[in-house]
Amino acid sequence: MSEVHIMDHPLIQHKISYIRNEEVGTKEFREVVGEIAGLMCFEATRDLKLQDVKIKTPICETIGKELTGKKLAVVPILRAGLGMVDGMLSLIPAAKVGHIGLYRDPETFDPVEYYCKLPADCEEREVFVVDPMLATGGSSSAAIQMLKDKGVKRIRFLCIIAAPEGVERMQKEHPDVDLYIGALDAYLNDHKYIVPGLGDAGDRIFGTK
Ligand code: PRP
Ligand code: URA
Repeated sequence: MSEVHIMDHPLIQHKISYIRNEEVGTKEFREVVGEIAGLMCFEATRDLKLQDVKIKTPICETIGKELTGKKLAVVPILRAGLGMVDGMLSLIPAAKVGHIGLYRDPETFDPVEYYCKLPADCEEREVFVVDPMLATGGSSSAAIQMLKDKGVKRIRFLCIIAAPEGVERMQKEHPDVDLYIGALDAYLNDHKYIVPGLGDAGDRIFGTK
């Protein structure tokens, strides 16, 4: 069974409450989504492997630690996932970036694929899939299946707000994928929007309606 990490860091909680407010405009919403993504990346990379490295400081020689250089990739689910990419790259700048385009059919709520471009060596990489919202889980589950179909074996999923329904679906369909969640909300409404949520993340990041 996958691990579910609910991010209880005070800065993450504070910033999520801030962007839930319907009065927050596009510029600020986008900026704070990026900040939250950076903080979540910090937590989600806690177990990256380190190795010893010899360093000569201005004072003496010593042994420090460095990342083993394992290859990473960030894969946003378009569109809203794009809002999390810069925050992730601010901490793991050497990561490659793939893109998966999915939108939720407004009638059936099923994901519809319209784009997929991944790093050529994606199957060798540890992949962080990012999307601010995990609602029914249809989009994230489909995106992760697309990655698995390309041979990717190590996948983590990061979202800012999740509904219990989406978490359950992800755990059932992808029990090997650990989930990093900023806030676990109450339920989905009749339109499959997260309650209390923050509305439509893509529209709020890009200023569309
Ligand atoms: C939103 C969100 C997720 C998806 C979540 O995207 O960013 O991708 O819905 O819902 P689900 O868990 O029920 O699949 P949307 O389809 O609105 O597209 P957008 O990012 O282009 O706005
Ligand atoms: N997509 C969003 O952007 N928000 C929700 O609450 C559900 C799906």
